[in-house]
Amino acid sequence: MNNARVVPLAEALSAPVVALPLTVDEEGARLEASLAQRVGDVDIPRTLDAEWCRRRGLSSVAGSSVVLSTVSGALVVLVSLGSAESVASPEAWRQVGAQLAPRARAVGSDVAILVPTEYSVDLELTGEALVTGALLAAYDYKTPDASGELLVAPVGSPLPSVADHDAVSRGLQRAVVVADATNWAKRLIDTPAGHATPKELAKKFAHRLGSDPDTGVEIWTESTIREEGLGGLLAVGAGSAEPTRLVYARYRPSDARAHVVLVGKGVTFDSGGLSLKPAESMMAMKTDMSGAAIVMAALSMVARLRVPLRVTAIAALTENLTGDRATKPGDVVTARNGTTIEILNTDAEGRVILADALSLAVEANPDVIIDVATLTGAQRVALGDEVGGLFSSSDEVARQLEEAGRDAGESLWRLPLVESYARLLESDVADLRNIAKGGGAGSITAALFLQRFVGTRPWAHLDIAGPGRSDQTRGYVTKGATAFGARTLARYLESLARQSVS
Ligand code: BES
Ligand code: MN
Ligand code: ZN
Repeated sequence: MNNARVVPLAEALSAPVVALPLTVDEEGARLEASLAQRVGDVDIPRTLDAEWCRRRGLSSVAGSSVVLSTVSGALVVLVSLGSAESVASPEAWRQVGAQLAPRARAVGSDVAILVPTEYSVDLELTGEALVTGALLAAYDYKTPDASGELLVAPVGSPLPSVADHDAVSRGLQRAVVVADATNWAKRLIDTPAGHATPKELAKKFAHRLGSDPDTGVEIWTESTIREEGLGGLLAVGAGSAEPTRLVYARYRPSDARAHVVLVGKGVTFDSGGLSLKPAESMMAMKTDMSGAAIVMAALSMVARLRVPLRVTAIAALTENLTGDRATKPGDVVTARNGTTIEILNTDAEGRVILADALSLAVEANPDVIIDVATLTGAQRVALGDEVGGLFSSSDEVARQLEEAGRDAGESLWRLPLVESYARLLESDVADLRNIAKGGGAGSITAALFLQRFVGTRPWAHLDIAGPGRSDQTRGYVTKGATAFGARTLARYLESLARQSVS
């Protein structure tokens, strides 16, 4: 399933799989009157008693479902939105959507869903959430070319108006753009490091973003990176035979209001360098370029949605290996902005490449800088794999990101930039050391390190080491790469564009 379309009821009812959302509580399940249709030879009832639901596993957990078959072989899927209050919750609709993807895969064709207009005050958000959940859940690294479409039929009494259709259609179009870019990022992140090298990734970024409206992409090769003084990025890439790259992508519509620079960590494989990781810790380190793929996906979303905002995305792409030119613990390197860094642990490499990328971001003189990085194992320890760590020097930016994350179903938790911990980053031989003394507060000290490169400019940092990957498929979050944060960034940028006066 890779697309969605609004269809009339009759067309939906003739699809090989027809899904109906309903609400469930202790008394059983309830369907809207408009859903009491005849599908094939099955009459859909208005209510289902509690015992019937319980035996079939249909519960108040959003996304729980039961399948009924018709004589003709078509399937009717009853999917729970949860309790009655959930009908207005985008998250519930995303969970309903997530249940449709495996059905589409199983039948290899279209799946239809009826959406009661009585349920929702905001059909655009509902349609968007439903389609987002379905398309994100349809992602499968091994079988990329999923066929079939999601057919969405608004139903209701009185009959849905043209405005209802248009609202669902707008939500659906947004969802297709957002899910397509998110799944594109997930695929790049899941690609083995042997294939997704800095050079290949840079090409993939340029290929997608170069063709979006009002965009331009520049790829910096090693000679440019050297000339431009990106000493941190070069130092991290020094131990690898794969050449380092920096991608500078721009979206600049003529009606741009504010300017935001996004910065992504793009370590295509993190072995730890000479401060080598143990085997177990290295197994998922092809995903250490998540931040880079995520910021490029967000840029692609806002370009395709034509958000009236200038957005620049910078990805620092390199491999952290142990070759004979590798940076050694104790080496001192100079970042783009002149700050010297004592590299005491080559496994704390993300902050070293971000030092350069953030310096470049500042030079672009934007209104806000946001970086995304799988930066610290400590983030995962603190918040697990469902919540991202948010740091910001601006209460306003932090609040807006938290809100965007809530809307997108990607929850962020703000952690403090504890000023006095800056002392833990003092070096005897350079301006900064790349690992904090003492070892506590690993995510905070990493964020404080980054803050040294953005100065006083409004800035936020998303540490997604935990939620960047999922060990299992849970609803619309598929196993492996999640591209966590991409959808939040797009939402944040859209709301910033709405607020900013031209
Ligand atoms: N890429 C890792 C962080 C990471 C860990 C991401 C687990 C996803 C899952 C990062 O480069 C790293 O190695 N950080 C070190 C920093 C330490 C040496 C100060 C860490 O967290 O152990
Ligand atoms: Mn590392
Ligand atoms: Zn790393």
